[in-house]
Amino acid sequence: MIRSVALTGLAAMSIFGSAGMANAQSGELVLYCAADESICRLLSESFQRETGINVLMTRRSSGETYAQIKAEEGQPRGDVWWGGTGDPHLQAAQEGLTAAYESPMLAELQDWAVRQAESAGYRTVGVYAGALGYGYNTDLIDPNSENAPQCWADLLDEAYRDEIQVANPNSSGTAYTLLATLVQLMGEDEAFEYLTALNDNISQYTSSGSAPIRAAGTGESSIGIVFMHDAVAQAVMGSPIQTVAPCEGTGYEIGSMSIIEGGPNPENARIFYDWVLTPEAQELGAQANSFQVPSNVNAATPPESPNLEDILLIDYDFDLYGSSEERARLLARWDAEIGSL
Ligand code: F6P
Repeated sequence: MIRSVALTGLAAMSIFGSAGMANAQSGELVLYCAADESICRLLSESFQRETGINVLMTRRSSGETYAQIKAEEGQPRGDVWWGGTGDPHLQAAQEGLTAAYESPMLAELQDWAVRQAESAGYRTVGVYAGALGYGYNTDLIDPNSENAPQCWADLLDEAYRDEIQVANPNSSGTAYTLLATLVQLMGEDEAFEYLTALNDNISQYTSSGSAPIRAAGTGESSIGIVFMHDAVAQAVMGSPIQTVAPCEGTGYEIGSMSIIEGGPNPENARIFYDWVLTPEAQELGAQANSFQVPSNVNAATPPESPNLEDILLIDYDFDLYGSSEERARLLARWDAEIGSL
């Protein structure tokens, strides 16, 4: 959690200045952040410095954040849910847990970010995008070998017995994206057969989506199934990680943001919402080794970011896989057939 001090002097250097927004605010913002700790902290500290609004930030994974907001329904304690995969944001929108807001910043956003907002009646919006894949430790798997993994199918090789980590899709948006991606790529029964076979090679289902690639980075395991930008981040930080875009094609996320319905500080929620969609705020991602593609068309994409145009992407059905019924049904089937193994 970040509990702030007043930083009035620095507020004069506000990046709001250029967007014509006020920079002398007061009060608090309760931020539920569902991306990596480093970007959650940097955004919180920067916003606090810019505005003087104290940020109380809690980080959890995407599914955990959804569950918390659901549990607080009727007595919400959070104001804004920033980051994490879009599917649970869409589910929350459908269930009325989040509030409609049409930010003036929508005009600056990529089509995919605006479509996310439109399909949820403006109860959410896209803040970044990134493709799913995996990474492996090049000290443990030779990238020049003809057996080096390149496809989803390669992860079933018995050479990787207990050598792969992936998150649990109940807590992690990354792992839910994997589940929904495999269902769309293979068909549902075939996807569950694949996950059953893959289970033989899984050493651990983590709660956070990016933990598996940190484990591969240290050599604790060989392979982590993660968003490709999280594998790139480990390599940029010096770990021997090779990033893979699976040959059969892959899914992607539209990382999202939503205002929590009935939250304690609605005005500050909208100030944060508008600020965090500016190019300047989105470009903070690179400083925190967050290499997703930003949603503001005027924000520079970090050169390290995987180029989505070079990756074979499926036509991910966000409306279906972000619906309450489908997400609950698939997670229940995962619990019964995979989680129970
Ligand atoms: O912050 C990295 C990231 O991969 C985001 O791109 C994504 O939205 C989020 O983590 C998903 O985290 P989790 O799988 O823990 O919900």
